[in-house]
Amino acid sequence: MDDSRETQGPKAFVTGYPVKHSRSPLIHGYWLRQLDLAGSYRAHEVPVEKFASFIASLKDGTSGFVGGNVTIPHKEAAFKLADRPDALTEELGASNTLWLQDKVLHATNTDGRGFTANLDERHPGWDRSDRAVILGAGGASRAIIQAVRDRGFKEIHVVNRTVERAQELADRFGERVHAHPMAALGEVMQGAGLFVNTTSLGMDGEAAPRIDFSPLVQEAVVTDIVYVPLKTPLLAQAEEQGFAIVDGLGMLLHQAVPGFEKWFGRRPVVDETLRALIIADMEKH
Ligand code: ATR
Repeated sequence: MDDSRETQGPKAFVTGYPVKHSRSPLIHGYWLRQLDLAGSYRAHEVPVEKFASFIASLKDGTSGFVGGNVTIPHKEAAFKLADRPDALTEELGASNTLWLQDKVLHATNTDGRGFTANLDERHPGWDRSDRAVILGAGGASRAIIQAVRDRGFKEIHVVNRTVERAQELADRFGERVHAHPMAALGEVMQGAGLFVNTTSLGMDGEAAPRIDFSPLVQEAVVTDIVYVPLKTPLLAQAEEQGFAIVDGLGMLLHQAVPGFEKWFGRRPVVDETLRALIIADMEKH
């Protein structure tokens, strides 16, 4: 893209603290080039104490941005400061996508849509069973619980080391969501057709705990929201035990689609070239 294409069109951002590791500029930059659109998307680091004034400058137009993505640690503040959060983000209490429309700052959270779109693309039929098991009850698991519930699973079992955190989420997301301690994992996996890991278990060089996936139904799919490495220790175990697996990279790619469409006016497509671009970047770092 030449410079004039970047300076002329709508400007969007990803903000966080820190934000330099974000791969979102690569994703949106790819789509801007692919669709030959004028516009730019760049990382804009904002410390916590300056976030409210950044949002004020977004609302009054002085920032020059039409909207952007919000990542850790600003997702809750973005929700609170937006003028018009949608119902999804109201329930979550955290927003990752902002856009201005008639000077009104709208907010949503696209993580859940990223999660379901990834599974729809890579393992159609993933939503055929009634029972899902979600391991972990941190910030990242909320949007997954919401998305799995909204897709129609009748029983969603959230299993967490600290059962109180799982219980908070069960209370938040309604009667189809149940909380359990780790010791109950094998039991709640009985007959489940979806298993999602939202924890960092086994990521930081520690040995991953051994999980026996055999209580799942034979056609179950096991997925992870962590995508570095692409095949996480839990996915590797599930695959060895004969289960279908889906890695978490597609969730990152698909969650970016609604924001791009809001800011730049075209709905982009997640394709293999984009996936390969991000994998190549992961291999560099
Ligand atoms: P995020 O917002 O990215 O989800 P988080 O809020 O720190 O991160 O949550 C991390 C999740 O991984 C939690 O469910 C955490 O369990 P606790 O709520 O009990 O802390 C889980 N987790 C991390 N390390 C773990 C470990 N060694 N064993 C079991 N669970 C672990």
